[in-house]
Amino acid sequence: MEIAIRYYSKLGHTKDIAQAMAEEAGVTAVSIADESSLQKKADILFLGGAPYANVMDKKLRAYAEAIDPSMVSKIVLFTTSNWSRRTVMSLRRILERKGIEVEKRYFYAHMLNIQNRIPKAKEFIRSFLD
Ligand SMILES: Cc1cc2nc3c(=O)[nH]c(=O)nc-3n(C[C@H](O)[C@H](O)[C@H](O)COP(=O)(O)O)c2cc1C
Repeated sequence: MEIAIRYYSKLGHTKDIAQAMAEEAGVTAVSIADESSLQKKADILFLGGAPYANVMDKKLRAYAEAIDPSMVSKIVLFTTSNWSRRTVMSLRRILERKGIEVEKRYFYAHMLNIQNRIPKAKEFIRSFLD
């Protein structure tokens, strides 16, 4: 199964979660700041981001809007924030509108609890690998 992990992170919280998941899955987590579009087909794309003043960064929005539905079978979302989970809701809306299947479950970590959530992030991705 081909797993891809992509994220956008300004402060490093979402990156930490992405990297923990990547370690568990044996892949490399790639920042969407370093990749304009997915280069290889994936069975599952894990896509993460966070809200800044209520909205995700426009680079992440543009990345999601540009995903070619033929490149991914399914997307699983993850997010970090101070309180809001709206990045997940917004990404889901964008992706489902494109006809992409988005997993119901998503992973959330509070920004002050990232290190404690790393084992849970690994457990979360593991449940998709079995
Ligand atoms: C400028 C700024 C605005 C933020 N606005 C929100 C917000 O509207 N809602 C929220 O829940 N968290 C907000 N946060 C918290 C971030 O979403 C949180 O720290 C998140 O983990 C950042 O992810 P990153 O470290 O991957 O960049 C904000 C943080 C910053 C720096």
